[in-house]
Amino acid sequence: MQSLKDGINSIREEIKETAVSNAEQLEQFRIKFLGTKGKLKGLMGEMKNVAKDQKREAGQMLNEFKQFAEGRFEELKAQFKTNVTSDGDAATDASLPPLPNETGARHPLSTVQEKMISIFERIGFTVAEGPEIEDDWHNFSALNLPEHHPARDMQDTFFISKDPDWVLRTHTSSVQIRTMEKGVLPIRQIFPGRVYRNETISARAHCFFHQVEGLYIDEKVSFADLKQTLYHFVQQMFGEDVQVRFRPSYFPFTEPSAEMDVSCFICDSKGCSVCKHTGWVEILGCGMVHPNVLKNTGIDPEKYSGFAFGMGVDRTTMLMYGINDIRLLSENDIRFLKQFK
Ligand code: PHE
Repeated sequence: MQSLKDGINSIREEIKETAVSNAEQLEQFRIKFLGTKGKLKGLMGEMKNVAKDQKREAGQMLNEFKQFAEGRFEELKAQFKTNVTSDGDAATDASLPPLPNETGARHPLSTVQEKMISIFERIGFTVAEGPEIEDDWHNFSALNLPEHHPARDMQDTFFISKDPDWVLRTHTSSVQIRTMEKGVLPIRQIFPGRVYRNETISARAHCFFHQVEGLYIDEKVSFADLKQTLYHFVQQMFGEDVQVRFRPSYFPFTEPSAEMDVSCFICDSKGCSVCKHTGWVEILGCGMVHPNVLKNTGIDPEKYSGFAFGMGVDRTTMLMYGINDIRLLSENDIRFLKQFK
């Protein structure tokens, strides 16, 4: 009888000390104390050793203990259940910080492109878009690049193999042609969009990228208008203090042609890796629309003149955010994109 009493007491203590925090531990508890080979069954087996006149008392004791053990099991089960999420398997620790609510963010290319567009919109330019698959005329010929012109080599082109008269546009100048062909003058428009070139993909070049080009055609548009417009643009884009310089260049569709550099806005022209220690970064090509291009689209070059420019959105985005690999812009790696919230 005494050994039964001692057994009950020590198992009672053991039960009190047993903590349960998941379904597996609850089941272990059940097997250990209430199962067919469990400790309660073991105690019951000791009844046979209890003297006859004490059996009644021992039975009551065991019964009371059984109720205690089963009660404890139900308690643990209930307590553990309130700790279980609706799908029933993972325990929730209410003291943990909440899971972050993942929201999307604007892609840095979109941010930069929208900034470019809004600067021109505020000075009266409207936005025009066109197809990414273009015919030879809009992408090359109308732009004063006849079929065998060597300047076509400047733009490694993806041809559509079924019909080489069709290409993936190499610049959004093709949309400028489409606008000019409509013949509604004056024209003050910008042309954002994706363009394609057959380049070897590397940290600095991709086979597709994004441009914002612009076109202004009216009577008496001069190179001074071009410079002033672009000067206004870079001040809005990179800051009031930015300086510009024009270098003579060549494009078949503009004459004269120039490339425009801005003073390095990363290092304030002190010299850094972005400007390769020159203090200047090249950001766009521009020029006065070639009279042949006006003629090709039915605009009288004696009456009208105009300027055009084109810049890469990807390059500018990389400069502004210090991104060192162009491929990051199209890989959609969430760890990269998250940084632009
Ligand atoms: N179309 C040229 C390019 O893709 C850019 C450009 C546009 C240059 C207009 C001059 C005038 O490189």
